[in-house]
Amino acid sequence: MPEEKDILVVDDEPIIRDILVRKLTSSGYRPVAVENAFEALDKMREKTFPVILSDIMMPGIDGIELLKKVRSGYPDTAVVMITAVSNANAAIEALKEGASDYLIKPFNLEEIVMSIANALEKRRLILENRGYQEHLEELVRVQTAEIRGLLAIEQQKTFQLNKALDEIQVTYNTTLEALSTALDYRDNVTEGHSQRVVKYSIEIGKALGLKDYDLEVLARGTLLHDIGKIGVPDSILRKPAILTSEEWGEMRKHVEYGYRMLQGIPFLKDASSIVLHHQERYDGAGYPQGLKRDEIVIGARIFAIVDTYDSMTTDRPYRKALTDKDAREEILLGRNSQFDPVVVDTFFKIPEQKWSTIKEDVAGSKYNNSIFRSTDKTAVNEKDPVPLKLL
Ligand SMILES: [Fe+2]
Repeated sequence: MPEEKDILVVDDEPIIRDILVRKLTSSGYRPVAVENAFEALDKMREKTFPVILSDIMMPGIDGIELLKKVRSGYPDTAVVMITAVSNANAAIEALKEGASDYLIKPFNLEEIVMSIANALEKRRLILENRGYQEHLEELVRVQTAEIRGLLAIEQQKTFQLNKALDEIQVTYNTTLEALSTALDYRDNVTEGHSQRVVKYSIEIGKALGLKDYDLEVLARGTLLHDIGKIGVPDSILRKPAILTSEEWGEMRKHVEYGYRMLQGIPFLKDASSIVLHHQERYDGAGYPQGLKRDEIVIGARIFAIVDTYDSMTTDRPYRKALTDKDAREEILLGRNSQFDPVVVDTFFKIPEQKWSTIKEDVAGSKYNNSIFRSTDKTAVNEKDPVPLKLL
């Protein structure tokens, strides 16, 4: 017994309808017979027919037209066409329009039953395949939603992690600046010295094409260059008279003290090379190792120039500041001896206005303007943290 039994028979000849209905009924189907396409469409609106068996030659709407309407309005209904021998072309057209099969009159009744069974089987496979496709699409939709959900959670985690890192970074940098300011006070250097040398160094570093991380290392190394003076006694560091050679020997150790202090701190390890070598000279006459040229890290070569420039252009207890012009001449004199010529040339390429702007900025900030924060997007806002810009 077929599972799907409702077959719509459409034929304008009563005798054919009777034969077909009887045969289909005896084969286990539940045929409904109508005499034209209009009635067929009415019946189809009332119930679902998995298969229509339709004549081609009919008055009014012919079988081909009916086929087209069924294909567009009821795409899951299979249509088997019946045609006269003389109308073979119409049968071919029917197949082109999507008929499942066609039978030529006079037909063999067993052939009709077989054709309907085939049409039903083909329809069942199509529906099953579509169901499988829909299931797959649903599966993909569900999995995509799950993946999106997981991604959103990951993004949230990354956001929170970055925020925490930014906050740690701010804490690190604030601590470094406080330490450096304390050192400046103890060392009696001119107010704002550390801030200026960091900013000058960054200008030169950028002009030399250093990338973000190297600029960070440069800023930290420059800021902490004299951190080792913590280990130098006040009696030497603050001595109002000229140091003896023994005292100088002690003073010179500050570069190694500083280096050793920073070595144990992972995020300052790279900066420690600048601290160790900030008193080296390009010609090898500096200390502690008498390194020359490229043996000296670039950060220390940059620092040598900006430190000299800042010392000369600010008042000292024992002398007034030199003019900018005099300071520049001195730096030019040190080209190739005290200083790296490439860095000197880079220094001179930067507009003088830059240096005076930095001096004014630092003087105006009175240590409140963090050198580790840019002027545009700096502070970490609790609600909406921006990536910390170090320089
Ligand atoms: Fe120093």
